[in-house]
Amino acid sequence: MIDNKDIKEVLLSEEEIKAVVKRLGEQITKDYEGKNLLLVSILKGSVVFMADLMREIKTHCKIDFMAVSSYGSGTRTSGSVKILKDLNIDLEGYDILLVEDILDSGVTLSNLKAMLMLRKPASLKICTFLDKPERRKADIVADYTGVQVPDEFVVGYGLDYDEKYRNLPFVGVLSPSVYSE
Ligand code: IMP
Ligand code: MG
Repeated sequence: MIDNKDIKEVLLSEEEIKAVVKRLGEQITKDYEGKNLLLVSILKGSVVFMADLMREIKTHCKIDFMAVSSYGSGTRTSGSVKILKDLNIDLEGYDILLVEDILDSGVTLSNLKAMLMLRKPASLKICTFLDKPERRKADIVADYTGVQVPDEFVVGYGLDYDEKYRNLPFVGVLSPSVYSE
């Protein structure tokens, strides 16, 4: 069992998350009506959000998945992300919406965006469930943001600590006792 003491504070309850995702889905539905929408989920953190978000989108869309990791800091140039799992769909002509769990430094996403633009999509926007604006290093803003969160380490609803806690149905702040163990 996951110990309740591992979570210092619940930031977003299941009900709050549902309302946020519904609002994003409604906005995306309006904006992408008549377009060629392809939702791209960045594995693994965004899978839970992706699964809920797509069901709140009432216009046609396709989905695909990719996994990336950033190169170590200092060696990064624009567009340098390591692709661990690439997309199956050729992006040309699609209106891409990148679906992310959390926008933190923004380094990964800004590099990924630059790289995907080379594949000539019709458009490319970003939808992030959580945003930690205080931590931003790269010059990037999300086009759709669920909730801004303070600079604390959060888990649940897809977000992990050491690959754990992704299955919590809410978003909580991880207790410092977990990393000091
Ligand atoms: P960045 O924006 O390039 O710094 O990377 C964002 C990635 O870091 C996210 O996709 C998460 O995997 C991870 N991340 C950042 N902050 C948190 C957090 O508070 N909890 C869990 N993962 C986080
Ligand atoms: Mg992630």
